[in-house]
Amino acid sequence: RRDVGILAMDIYFPPACVLQEELESHDGASKGKYTIGLGQDCMAFCSEVEDVISMSLTVVTSLLKKYKIDPKLIGRLEVGSETVIDKSKSIKTWLMQIFEECGNTDIEGVDSSNACYGGTAALLNCVNWVESNSWDGRYGLVVCTDSAVYAEGPARPTGGAAAIAMLIGPNAPISFESKYKASHMAHVYDFYKPDLASEYPVVDGKLSQTCYLMALDSCYRQFCNKYEKLAGEQFSVSDADYFVFHSPYNKLVQKSFARLYYNDFMRNCSYVDNEAKEKLQPFSNLTVEESYQSRDLEKASQQVAKHLYDIKVGPSTLLPKQIGNMYTASLYAALASVVYDKHGSLDGQRIVMFSYGSGLTSTMFSLKLNNGQHPFSLSNIASALNVTEKLQSRHMVSSSISSIHKLRRKTVTCLKLAPSKMFHWNAKIARYLLHYLIFTGEEPYL
Ligand code: ACO
Repeated sequence: RRDVGILAMDIYFPPACVLQEELESHDGASKGKYTIGLGQDCMAFCSEVEDVISMSLTVVTSLLKKYKIDPKLIGRLEVGSETVIDKSKSIKTWLMQIFEECGNTDIEGVDSSNACYGGTAALLNCVNWVESNSWDGRYGLVVCTDSAVYAEGPARPTGGAAAIAMLIGPNAPISFESKYKASHMAHVYDFYKPDLASEYPVVDGKLSQTCYLMALDSCYRQFCNKYEKLAGEQFSVSDADYFVFHSPYNKLVQKSFARLYYNDFMRNCSYVDNEAKEKLQPFSNLTVEESYQSRDLEKASQQVAKHLYDIKVGPSTLLPKQIGNMYTASLYAALASVVYDKHGSLDGQRIVMFSYGSGLTSTMFSLKLNNGQHPFSLSNIASALNVTEKLQSRHMVSSSISSIHKLRRKTVTCLKLAPSKMFHWNAKIARYLLHYLIFTGEEPYL
């Protein structure tokens, strides 16, 4: 099987969002803290009648329709999510409603979860299935769906929500260079969800940033080693056209690319010019531990990497900056941003991806692009994604999202229903029930 990878993509994100600028003043944060400090423009969130299941039902229905895929042709369905709706029943089983209707119940796969990494685990499973002897000739389908909400405090502006669907098969326009792949897995408590009744994680923000950068270093080191063994030449940032990172918030993406540049400087890569060498020289004797704590190194490496960041990373930042952290969907929304923006010039190019999930699990892998053939062409993927129109048709909500989060929790608890059960197929009934609840304060009979 040749060129196994992503044949088609679609994204759904909630139409409701809040401007980070407004959130700053609402939260009493200093001006520029969320927009410049974190690098975010806007944050999407699920309203009281949406959740990860309704979003994933919507995006799967939309992908099948836009690319005219018969649901009977799906042989494996994998979901990545860290938003727990039920401790046992997988989100995948909810999505089976779409396939049962067409008489297709012969679909392998369940949910994968480990923080923001579950989508990558799901994707690698599907790609491996298509490449294996178990493949039965049908498509794989990967769904990444999450609603990222944080308790009030510094992490709240790093929320977001979205669902992405990706169709997997051979002869794909976005294919895996399976040999170039490196992982770093470890046991840490940087971000976790010990309270199963709460949507909110417990998060050690500073530790999670350091863990992310350490995992990035480790993956990059091993990725370079493997590349060098197989290709017989040094790998550096100049060997990929784009770098796409898991994006909790944009500032961390800026720091990550700068970190790769610093790695390349320490490895004596030839593209690092004299001016950059001069600026980074003072940091060349730091221990690895010291290098994670040095703010001066962070600033200097961001500065020398800026021109390359704009070219190789900038195009991937559109959706993550506009939507916020989408957990499992974040990395793939960043990939979708590149495909949407650059689809006309990606033929023959390489994209290096970095996936990170707290706890922690991480993988760096490489994708090769070709124009593809309709309907599985880069240009068709770009038009199905329809990013500009989707972004323009959103509505800005006042920044008191606390009350919306509270209303969501109240709805779910009082109606004893996941919003998705109401929303996707029965939006009108859902609204009726909600209004009944709000006006009477009573639980309606169901
Ligand atoms: N104007 C411009 N910049 C500002 C301003 C201002 N008025 N005020 C602060 N800043 C800058 C700071 O200098 C800092 O930038 P720097 O890192 O380049 O120096 C940045 O804004 C953030 O401010 P801090 O005070 O350092 O951090 P804060 O306490 O606001 O917390 C954090 C940020 C830790 C990211 C928090 O939002 C969080 O915990 N988020 C969730 C965890 C997370 O996303 N971790 C990432 C990996 S794990 C995952 O994906 C979930």
